[in-house]
Order: sequence, then structure tokens, then C-alpha cells
Amino acid sequence: MPTTTIAALAADPSPLARAITVDGVRLTVRGLLPGDEAALVAFLGGLSATSRRFWHGDTGHAAAAADWIEAIGRYDKLRLVAVDGDGLAGVVDLSLSLPEGHEITRYAEHGIRLDEERTARWGPCVADAWQGRGLADALIAPAWEAVRLLGRDVVVLFGGVHEDNVRARRFYRRHGFTEVGAVDMWRRL
Ligand SMILES: CC(C)(COP(=O)(O)OP(=O)(O)OC[C@H]1O[C@@H](n2cnc3c(N)ncnc32)[C@H](O)[C@@H]1OP(=O)(O)O)[C@@H](O)C(=O)NCCC(=O)NCCS
Repeated sequence: MPTTTIAALAADPSPLARAITVDGVRLTVRGLLPGDEAALVAFLGGLSATSRRFWHGDTGHAAAAADWIEAIGRYDKLRLVAVDGDGLAGVVDLSLSLPEGHEITRYAEHGIRLDEERTARWGPCVADAWQGRGLADALIAPAWEAVRLLGRDVVVLFGGVHEDNVRARRFYRRHGFTEVGAVDMWRRL
């Protein structure tokens, strides 16, 4: 049973807040807040072409940031951010919906029926200057705690992973994910 909801976490984000230390730097992990729009535009706009291709593609970052802020506490999405000073070092995208034609359909093609009540989609992205320093590792525990708070215990990659995203695949395997077909990976918590 969920102990909270996305709307309740928008009203009171305190259950999501954590302090982490990565590569000697203290960061705060918390839910995305309405005041984060400028930092989110800077984060998305600062991603290298490679990181952007692997994560959300080349959608306009100002429009994407505005959409994400508008969506706080509504719909199916929860975004966690790792804050370094005034900037964002990483973002974790979580979603509680499984729209037809996407993950639920691809897993079904491999004989796996995803349980809509138990499954969360997730996608991490770390700023290029932070990659390879342990930030994504440090975001795992807060992400799984958020997933559990929302009553879910199965995690699938949001949108899958590119076949040539070797670093992400290694990262997911290290954290217990297994492949389903060419682009999907999942794990039970
Ligand atoms: C995939 C991604 C999230 C991994 O993030 P990361 O912070 O680089 O990952 P980690 O924290 O696990 O660190 C990875 C590397 O740093 C190394 N590392 C260095 N210091 C470390 C530390 N203190 N703790 C853990 N790992 C450390 C690890 O050994 C690992 O090396 P490897 O990549 O050669 O295996 C990140 O590269 C990213 O955002 N990429 C662009 C967007 C993307 O691809 N998102 C995923 C879409 S499916």
C-alpha cells in the first residue's frame, strides 16, 4: 500500500529530502520545487549532446523545464533533484503511469505483464561535470525510497536505454537490473 501520493509530496516534500556527500561535496536531494525552473533550464541546457541524446532527446529545454514545473504534484510524475549550491547536479525522473504503446507494451512482447499498481518508471541523468564521480550511485537509495513511499516495488527504465549507452547499462547492471529485449531493463526492489 502506498504511504503517500505525488500530490501529498508536492504539498509536503520533506519525506524526500536527504543530504548526500559525493566525491567530497555535500549535496541535497529533494523533490523538484516550483522555484527550480531557472536551475532546471540551466541543467537541461548545459547537458552535452550525448547526455541529451541518451536521456530526453533534443526537446527544447526551456519548454521542457516549464512543463516539468507545471506538472509538480499533478499527473503521474515525480522528479528528484540533486542540488549543488544553486545548481542542479542530477535529476531523477519517476513516473507512476504505464501508457499503452510504451514500456507495458514492450514488456508484454517479451512475455512480462507489468503490474500497473506496483511498477514505477525511472530515468536518471547526471550533469556531465558530475558523471563518473558516484552521483548516480548516491541517487539510488533516495530514488528507491521514493518509489517505496509511493507503494511501488518494481522499477523499469523510463523509455528504455540506448543500445550504445554502455555506461548506463553497466550502471544499471551494477544496481541489479536485468535486460528485457534490446532496450529495456528492470528490477524488483
Ligand atoms: C548513466 C549515468 C546516470 C551514470 O551516472 P554516473 O554518476 O556517471 O554513474 P556512477 O555514479 O555509477 O559512476 C559511474 C562511474 O564512475 C566511477 N566512480 C568514480 N568514483 C565513484 C564513486 N565514489 N562511487 C561510485 N562510482 C564512482 C564508477 O566506477 C563508474 O565507472 P564506470 O562508468 O567506468 O563503470 C550518467 O552517466 C548520465 O547521466 N549519463 C547521461 C544520461 C543518461 O545516459 N541517462 C540514462 C538514460 S537510460
